[in-house]
Amino acid sequence: MLIGFNYTLGDTAPLVRKLLAGRHIDYVELLIDNFLAVPIEELMDGFAAPVGFHIMFSKFIENDTPALERLAYRLRELIDRLRPLYVSDHVARFSHEGRQLYHLAEIDYINDYSRVRERVDWWQQALGCQLLLENYPSIMDGGHDAPAFHERLYRDTGAGVLFDASNAVCAHLNCGVPLEAWEGVIESSSHFHTAGYNLSILQPHLILDTHDQALSDATLGFLQRYRTQFDTPHATMTYERDQRFDEHEIVADLQRLRGVFAPPSQGLRS
Ligand SMILES: [Fe+2]
Repeated sequence: MLIGFNYTLGDTAPLVRKLLAGRHIDYVELLIDNFLAVPIEELMDGFAAPVGFHIMFSKFIENDTPALERLAYRLRELIDRLRPLYVSDHVARFSHEGRQLYHLAEIDYINDYSRVRERVDWWQQALGCQLLLENYPSIMDGGHDAPAFHERLYRDTGAGVLFDASNAVCAHLNCGVPLEAWEGVIESSSHFHTAGYNLSILQPHLILDTHDQALSDATLGFLQRYRTQFDTPHATMTYERDQRFDEHEIVADLQRLRGVFAPPSQGLRS
């Protein structure tokens, strides 16, 4: 299993370089929206390590075609030159009846299926590569429909899942989606996310995908239980952290991940 770290902001470049130098990580996931204007050579020289692309704000389900075509043009250049391990995006709502939402919201997996399928087909064509779509940390009962939605979308479009294990734990804690419901998705996925989560400030308390805490025992237990399904050739696991950059805590989590996916011991020789 290749272990990676997300690079979202310029400020964390020294930390990411330190994690690479210490061999705590093998690659860097770029939140690519933030680096679209960076010269390609500069981006290539940035870390001297493989990269993954995570697209955050394409809003490909609702954005207008000319804007998406311009974005796709730049992304294709970056894909051609940087040869990322994967290209991922989000299936989510960014607005409601013309009003911009503060946080991205979950789609209706049943009623929105046809529209989403059509847009995924189009966006994948525009990017010229397989697209991976991240599962949402559900807070409402509609989350129960997410695993079947992703399996169907994969069958119909070839777009895979960037399976976020801790998002699945959030959905389990918030609305009871069993972790076992994701078995089919995990089996057909090679690229994964994991992160810490936290309680919402407002009541009733929800579990939010905050990327600011150490990995929970529930997440580590989930990874351990399905480690052989996760750990296939060329598989990647990105540890996401966007706040509280506590280096000791981050390194400890990365070492825990290495421990979960360490090759089986050869045993003692006599
Ligand atoms: Fe994620």
